[in-house]
Amino acid sequence: MNTQNSQPLLELRDVSKTFKLPSGDVRALAHVSLGIRRGDLVALVGPSGSGKTTLLNVIGSLDRPSQGEVLLEGIRIDTLSEEKLVLFRREKFSFIFQDAKPLRMLNVLENTLLPFNFFKPKNSNGNLKDAAIEIITSLGLGHRIYHMPNQLSGGEIQRVAIARALITRPAVILADEPTANLDRTNRLFVIETFKRLTRETGITIVFSTHDLEIANISDRIVQMKDGTVLDEEPSPCPPCPA
Ligand SMILES: Nc1ncnc2c1ncn2[C@@H]1O[C@H](COP(=O)(O)OP(=O)(O)OP(=O)(O)O)[C@@H](O)[C@H]1O
Ligand SMILES: [Mg+2]
Repeated sequence: MNTQNSQPLLELRDVSKTFKLPSGDVRALAHVSLGIRRGDLVALVGPSGSGKTTLLNVIGSLDRPSQGEVLLEGIRIDTLSEEKLVLFRREKFSFIFQDAKPLRMLNVLENTLLPFNFFKPKNSNGNLKDAAIEIITSLGLGHRIYHMPNQLSGGEIQRVAIARALITRPAVILADEPTANLDRTNRLFVIETFKRLTRETGITIVFSTHDLEIANISDRIVQMKDGTVLDEEPSPCPPCPA
């Protein structure tokens, strides 16, 4: 784990986001300033419409802020050209969505390797198939490697989404309500897995949730309301050296 925490991995400086609609402007984020450290597991909580999804999209450069700065590893990403952003996003971010659906005609292994249908891996020396099997097995799906999605439970499908997010070895995973459709056992499994991954790999995970039990397992809870962040305090301790 990287313990050089003097500078946040992710930083938002006075970020606002306004959607312009024919019916009028909708301000989804208002003056959000936030620093997130490497290896942290951060939960975004807040009422529906408070800006959680918008914030995840702005952090992950899927959406540009209307105002303010977004930095990853000290580099401003809100001003990168679309061309550079595509490459940057691929290398640094993975996304997990609430309704993440594996492709029906691909098995678990093939779904995990799917990102590499679109771009080359960072380090092509290793055997990608072995790496995928290792990730799938670490998520408790070792007995499902060649199963098709219609042979999987909802919890298992969400683990495939996690495997796919991990295979590209991103710096940051952004997950929008990743546990919303799961029962409690699977919700806890997903969040405990997130926590283990942050500890073992130094990956940073930011996820949104309406479930306070799940949020409380994270290192830090960022509370949102009406597009603002109520809590801007850094998490008290982690990541601490073992
Ligand atoms: N593409 C868009 N165009 C216009 N308004 C939008 C758009 N996306 C979000 N909004 C508005 O921005 C505000 C924040 O929405 P957002 O989806 O970020 O909330 P949320 O906290 O994720 O809510 P939920 O918990 O329901 O997922 C809402 O008022 C929403 O209507
Ligand atoms: Mg949302």
